[in-house]
Amino acid sequence: MEIILDVTDLHIEFHDHDQPEVAVEDFDLMLGEGEIVGIVGESGSGKSMSALAIAGLLNRKSLTKSGRIMFDGTDLLTCDRKKLRSYQGDEISIIFQEPMTSLNPVKRIGWQVEESLYIHHREISKEDRRKRAVEMLGSVGLADAENVYYMYPHELSGGMRQRVMIAAAMIGNPKILIADEPTTALDVTVQAQIVELLKKINRERNTSIIFISHDLSLVSQLCQRVIVMQHGNIVESGRCSDIFSRPRHLYTKRLIAAIPRIDLGDDKDRR
Ligand SMILES: Nc1ncnc2c1ncn2[C@@H]1O[C@H](COP(=O)(O)OP(=O)(O)OP(=O)(O)O)[C@@H](O)[C@H]1O
Ligand SMILES: [Mg+2]
Repeated sequence: MEIILDVTDLHIEFHDHDQPEVAVEDFDLMLGEGEIVGIVGESGSGKSMSALAIAGLLNRKSLTKSGRIMFDGTDLLTCDRKKLRSYQGDEISIIFQEPMTSLNPVKRIGWQVEESLYIHHREISKEDRRKRAVEMLGSVGLADAENVYYMYPHELSGGMRQRVMIAAAMIGNPKILIADEPTTALDVTVQAQIVELLKKINRERNTSIIFISHDLSLVSQLCQRVIVMQHGNIVESGRCSDIFSRPRHLYTKRLIAAIPRIDLGDDKDRR
């Protein structure tokens, strides 16, 4: 498997207060082409900060970053903004927990799905952009994509909005999709549908996925490998099956113990 993302010694520190606050320490991640890696950990453990750094979205003045984030022969931590922008949303995309905060309430769905094509691929004509957006909306499982194209975010359910976000993230056919708790705000049935959709995208396009969640059981359904974080550090990482059968860190053991039995049963049947 070709490695397409190689993060080493990522360190993120905030300087908003007198004392610097370490958000992420010694974070390492090697992501293979077409691989799905999960990141789990309690609130505040540094999952989102790591993800945002990889997506090139951590650019505050009050924050220092060090380490390396190698993608396409470039270190995303030190490369110039123009280069970084050329990757964002086109080669590396990110989706978040609550689509309403990422979707613009006064813009039509179609415009929001097309936006990254408009930014990165000016050569594509308006009509072709529309076609591709409608196609993309259909492929993320939105029935009646032609109509959804002209709707506004508030006209859709939470699950549909998350599908729209996925369509917008995928329209440039990125090599990496980062999903930061994309299902946390959704009910269990819709959650399962979104996980299925991510699997389908991975299968059909060979997109590498970084899937962030509190939910170790969900991660085990989707990911081949998992990274467990606590207090900004990776406490354990490895193949999902190994971590499930032989967790070494106390925190991982607690996470596994917290999974309802019925889920673990399902999981055993699958392997
Ligand atoms: N503006 C800030 N100033 C100082 N520290 C911050 C700031 N924003 C975040 N942090 C710190 O960064 C750490 C990591 O936060 P992060 O958002 O990555 O956690 P998370 O694992 O994504 O949590 P959650 O599961 O709640 O989304 C937290 O401990 C937090 O205290
Ligand atoms: Mg987070």
